[in-house]
Amino acid sequence: MSGPLLSVRSLARHFRVKRRQGLWRRSATVKAVDDVSFEVGEAETFGLVGESGCGKTTTSRMVLRLERPDGGEIRFAGADVHTLRGQALFGYRLAVQAVFQDPYSSLSPRMRVRNIVTEPMDAGGQQAPRARADAARRLLGLVGLRPDAADLYPHEFSGG
Ligand SMILES: Nc1ncnc2c1ncn2[C@@H]1O[C@H](COP(=O)(O)OP(=O)(O)OP(=O)(O)O)[C@@H](O)[C@H]1O
Ligand SMILES: [Mg+2]
Repeated sequence: MSGPLLSVRSLARHFRVKRRQGLWRRSATVKAVDDVSFEVGEAETFGLVGESGCGKTTTSRMVLRLERPDGGEIRFAGADVHTLRGQALFGYRLAVQAVFQDPYSSLSPRMRVRNIVTEPMDAGGQQAPRARADAARRLLGLVGLRPDAADLYPHEFSGG
């Protein structure tokens, strides 16, 4: 592929918020993301670093299509992410995924690790059940977990 895998151009997200000012509540604008541009190439690792509140999560949420930009555009493999529909959107959801910060609010406490790991493969319609179980075993091994970790619930792990 020519060009970057992910291209973010002049991205903006401005939130309307109510601010207290004495007895009154005034409407104000928080420029959570304002004119942000970057590119990520294929097989490249990209880190977005900055002080708390500088807009990292808001930027990521727009890349994940959880939030609509107020300005700018996000292109993945050349296509405008926010105009994707149908099969193209389905493909994007498979290709771009998030690991959220807080495991206890991201992982279902009612699901065993095996099912947590295989659920996205299930949703993506990938592989037969047998192959998914093998893939889960392999993935656990890759991150240094024993195979029997698959039978545990999230709370049975240490926080780290
Ligand atoms: N839904 C919202 N409504 C109003 N303001 C918001 C909303 N979401 C985020 N903000 C504000 O936008 C700014 C950027 O927030 P964001 O969460 O993107 O920052 P961050 O870089 O991820 O911070 P941290 O390092 O603390 O995670 C902050 O001032 C935040 O309060
Ligand atoms: Mg954040």
